[in-house]
Amino acid sequence: MPRIYIETYGCQMNVSDSALVLGLLRAQGYVRTDDPAEADVLLVNTCAVRDHAEQRVLGRMGVLKGFKRAGGVLGVVGCMAQRLGPALLEQVPQVDLVIGPDGYRGLPELIARARQGERAADVRFQPWEHYEDVPAAREAAGGGGGASAFVTVQRGCDYRCTFCIVPMTRGPERSRKLADVVREVEGLVARGTTEVTLLGQTVNSYHDGEHDFADLLRAVGGVAGMRRLRFTSPYPTDFSERVLAAMAQTPPVCEHVHLPVQSGSNRVLRRMLRRYTRERYLEVAAALRHAVPGIALTTDIIVGFPGETEQDFEETVSLVREVRFDDAYTFKYSLRDGTPAVKLKDRVPEAVAGERLERLIAVVRRVARAKNVALVGTTHEVLVEGKAKRGGLLQARTRGNKVALLDGPDEWIGTYRRVRLTGTTGSTFTSWPVAQELAVVG
Ligand code: SAH
Ligand code: F3S
Repeated sequence: MPRIYIETYGCQMNVSDSALVLGLLRAQGYVRTDDPAEADVLLVNTCAVRDHAEQRVLGRMGVLKGFKRAGGVLGVVGCMAQRLGPALLEQVPQVDLVIGPDGYRGLPELIARARQGERAADVRFQPWEHYEDVPAAREAAGGGGGASAFVTVQRGCDYRCTFCIVPMTRGPERSRKLADVVREVEGLVARGTTEVTLLGQTVNSYHDGEHDFADLLRAVGGVAGMRRLRFTSPYPTDFSERVLAAMAQTPPVCEHVHLPVQSGSNRVLRRMLRRYTRERYLEVAAALRHAVPGIALTTDIIVGFPGETEQDFEETVSLVREVRFDDAYTFKYSLRDGTPAVKLKDRVPEAVAGERLERLIAVVRRVARAKNVALVGTTHEVLVEGKAKRGGLLQARTRGNKVALLDGPDEWIGTYRRVRLTGTTGSTFTSWPVAQELAVVG
C-alpha cells in the first residue's frame, strides 16, 4: 500500500483540512506514515498569514525534498500553495504538485500525473466545496482525534481586513448545511467524541440560507452525548442577541470565546477595515460576560500596522488592561502581497514594531497572571487531553480553556475529572483531582 506523510502548519482549519486530505487518500488505499523516509507521497499543508509562516515552510521543503525517493511525490497544499500557485513549482524544482484549499478532490489525479513526470498546480476556487462526502481521517491527522474534534462549518471569508491574506487564499465565504453538520457531529459522538470545536473564519456569521449560528449552536449542542461545544474564530460584531441567547441556553457551550480585536485604536481599526470601534468591541465583551458569567476572553493583536503611532499602540495596551484578557496571541504586522494594506503609507520600522511587541507581551502576561492567580483554589471540570510534555503528568483543560496538569493514570485520557487548581505558572496550572461528592462548582 502506498504511504502518505503530511505535515501541517497554521490554524485549526488546516488541521481539519489535513484530516480531509488523509481521508481522501485513505479512500484511494493510502496508509499514513509518520516517517518521511518511508513515504511515497510527502505533503505539506501550509499557512500564508505571515511571512514567517511561509519562510518556515520553505525551510522544511529544503529538508523534505531530501526524503523524496525515485518515483515519489512532493506536494504543497493549503494557503501558501494557493497564494503562490505555479510560481511555487518554479521556486522549488522538487515540488510536483501545488493545490489550494478548494482543490483537494483533485489530489489523487495530480499525484497520478506527478508519477508520470507532470508537474501541476490547481488553485481554482470552488465556492460550493465543503468536501461533504469525504470522511475525515481525524485520528490519523493528530490533534482532535478521540474525545475532541474540529468540525469546519464555514469555509472562506467575505470580510476584507486590509492586513489579511485569507480572503485571497480561502476564497468566498460559504456555510455548510446545518443538517450536514449535525449528522457529522452525531457520527463523531457515536464514536466517542464529547468535545467539538466548530471552525470558520468568521464562524458566528454562519448562515446556511435557512439557519444562523444561534440555530447551529442549539442544534449541535443538543446532540445527545455532547459535553463541550467550542467555536473559533468569531467576528466581534456578529454576536447577535440570538447568538448570545443560544450560548447562554446551550449547556455544552463552554465559557470561553476567542475574540480577535487586532488593535485598541479606532484610527488603526479603521485603517484595518475592522467593522467596529474600540467602544463597540468593549460592548461586545461586556455583552458576552453578561450572557455567560465567568466567560474567559482571549484575543489576537497585531502591532506595527502601517500608521500605528505610539499613542495608537498605547490604546491597544490600555484595551488589554480594560478587557482583562485571559490570554492574547500577539503578532508583528507582516506585509502580505495582494492585500489592501500594501498601499498604506507610514510603515512602522521593524525595530519599533519589535519593541512594541515586547512591551505588549509583558502587559498581556501580567494581566493573565493576575486573572490566573485569582483562580487558584477553585474547582473545575477538566477534560484530560493526553500526557504532559514533561514530568510524567497528564494535561487537561477546563471549560474556560485553562490548561491544568495533574497526576493520574493514562486511563484518564479522554475522560472528564473534577480538579482543584493548586498553583499557576502565570499561564498554566497544577491541579489535584477532587472527589465528585466534595466538588464545589468553580
Ligand atoms: N478570521 C480569522 C483570522 C485568521 S488570521 C480568525 O479570526 O481566525 C489569524 C490571526 O493572524 C488574525 O486574527 C491576526 O491577528 C493575525 N494576522 C492576520 N494577518 C496578519 C498579518 N498580515 N500580519 C500579522 N498578523 C496577521
Ligand atoms: Fe482575515 Fe478579517 Fe476574514 S482577519 S479571515 S479578512 S475576518
